Amino acid sequence: MKFIFVDNPNEGGIKGAQVFKNALANNAKTFGLATGSTPISTYNEITKSNLDFSNKISFNLDEYIGLKPTNPQSYHFYMNKYFFSVKPFAQSYLLNGLATSEEAELARYDRLLEKYPIDLQLLGIGKNGHIGFNEPGTPFDLTSHKVKLTESTIKTNSRFFNNINEVPKYAFSMGIRSIMSSKQILLEAYGEKKADAVAKMINGPVTEQLPASILQTHQNVIVIVDEAAASKI
Ligand code: PGA
Repeated sequence: MKFIFVDNPNEGGIKGAQVFKNALANNAKTFGLATGSTPISTYNEITKSNLDFSNKISFNLDEYIGLKPTNPQSYHFYMNKYFFSVKPFAQSYLLNGLATSEEAELARYDRLLEKYPIDLQLLGIGKNGHIGFNEPGTPFDLTSHKVKLTESTIKTNSRFFNNINEVPKYAFSMGIRSIMSSKQILLEAYGEKKADAVAKMINGPVTEQLPASILQTHQNVIVIVDEAAASKI
């Protein structure tokens, strides 16, 4: 793992956008994107830049089950707001949280991921060490799957909703096997609340109980952290 230490998320965003720029310069074609508060500074830098994704492909890590793409809490809505409305891709793939056949939807995503291997995958990390919505205990060898969100994640994400009862209980997520197939991975973490998960990701055992720990076994990972998130390393 290569580390980039920054003073704050804004500086992290500048460094994060630089990683995207380098990937484009190296002819990356497919980008794996994330949602949540962490990537926003990177997306802000990208949308201010002259980087061009109009002949590229994107995949998103996850989506809540049951939310329409027009729901402001859906990750479809988030991606349009923070990225695609300014920097469109030739094709953006997201899991469809309203799919009538969950099985068919997951199979569709896996087929697409096989067809268009991800060159650069952006990740945040949950307080419990999740990546995407791969919660602790998720087998490392899963591809796309349905997830029952943990109480910790529902509580953490309730800050974006009017109340905790509105937070979906289930989501679709790209699996860890697919994440690990990306040529390069960029993980960003900011703030004291991520310090435990970051320390375990780096120094702890590789265990399904701390999903991000699998990244110790990937050959090309860049971690951007601020001082608070790095405080327990
Ligand atoms: P956050 O979420 O960026 O909103 O902190 C990260 C995650 O849960 O993966």
